[in-house]
Amino acid sequence: MKKTLSVILAAGIAFAPLSVLAQDGQGPDTNTAEDQAAAVENADAPEEAAEEGHAATPHYPIKRPSELDWSFAGPFGSWDLAQLQRGYKVYREVCSACHSMNLVAFRNLEALGFSSEQIDTHAAEFTVQDGPNDQGEMFERPATASDYMPAPYPNPAAAAVANNGAVPPDLSLIAKARAVERGFPTFVFDIFTQYAESGPDYIHALLTGYEEEVPEGTEVMDGTYYNPYFISSAALAMAQPLYEDSVEYTDGSPQTVEQYSRDVSAFLMWAAEPHLTERKATGFVTMIFLIVFAVLMFLVKRRVWAGTPH
Ligand code: HEC
Repeated sequence: MKKTLSVILAAGIAFAPLSVLAQDGQGPDTNTAEDQAAAVENADAPEEAAEEGHAATPHYPIKRPSELDWSFAGPFGSWDLAQLQRGYKVYREVCSACHSMNLVAFRNLEALGFSSEQIDTHAAEFTVQDGPNDQGEMFERPATASDYMPAPYPNPAAAAVANNGAVPPDLSLIAKARAVERGFPTFVFDIFTQYAESGPDYIHALLTGYEEEVPEGTEVMDGTYYNPYFISSAALAMAQPLYEDSVEYTDGSPQTVEQYSRDVSAFLMWAAEPHLTERKATGFVTMIFLIVFAVLMFLVKRRVWAGTPH
C-alpha cells in the first residue's frame, strides 16, 4: 500500500511540470479563454472567424512586466512614506479624473504620514453628495476625513459613455487584482524568493508601456491605444495618462513618467493591502517562535522518552 502511494506521488511530481507547460499555452488546445474572446470579437463576422481559425490568436500580455525593486518587497519590506505621498498626489491629480477608489477613506491617508489637518485639506478638495436634509433633498458638500473617496462618475453607464464604452475600474484593489502569469519554472522560484509584487510591476509596466510602436499586423480599434503590457488585449481604452511634468513634486524627485508610475503603483499597493508591513513583521516573529518551539519540543521529547529502552 505504502509503495503504491509513493509511486503515485513520484509520478505526480514527475508529470506536474508537463501539465503546467500545457496550461501555459504551449500545449495544444489550451487557449480556451482566448478562443472565446476571439469568438466574441468575431461575432459580427462569423465567416471570417471560421476562415482565420484560432491558431493565430496571440497571447496577452504581449510583453511581460519587468521586476522592479520595491521598498515593501521581501520579508522585511516596509513602506516608503514619501513615495506613497507622491503616489497619492499622482492619483488625486491624474487618475481620480476617471478612476474611483471606493474602499479608501480620507482618514486612511493618516497611514501615509499625513497630519489630520493635511487630510482635512485633501478631503475638502472633493465634493460628495449627502442628505437628505430636512426638506428631503440631497445636497452636496465638501468631503471630510470620514468620507470615502468620491467616484468621478455617478454610475458605470456614465463612466462608459465618457470613456469610449470602457468603464475605468475602481483602483482600490487593482494592485492585487492584476498579476501576469509567470509560468513554469519562475513561479516555483517565486515561492522561495517570496515574489509578491506582480501587481505593482504590472501597473508600472502598463503606465510606461504606451510609447511602443504598433507592430505590423496588429489591429488597434478606434478609441483604443496600443500597449503591449495590457493583460487582456493589444490595446486598451485608457489613453496614456502620465506625461513628463504632469504632476508637480515638492521633494525634488524626478518628474518623469517612470517615477510617477512607480509612485502611483506603490500607492495602489498600499491601498490594496494597507497592513502589508504589519503582516510581514508578524509573520517573521511567528516563524522565529515556531523554530524555538520546535527545538523545545524536541528537547522535551528526548527528556520524556529518556528512560524508555528502545
Ligand atoms: C481619461 C480617463 C482615465 C485616466 C485619467 C486614467 N485612466 Fe486608467 N483606465 C481608464 C479606462 C477607460 C480603463 C479601462 C480600459 C479598458 O479596459 O480598455 C482604464 C484602466 C486602467 C487599469 C486597468 C488595466 C487592466 O489591466 O484592466 C489600470 C491599472 C489603470 N487604468 C490605472 C490608471 C492609473 C494609475 C491612472 C493615473 C495615473 C489612470 N489609470 C488614469 C481611464 C483612465
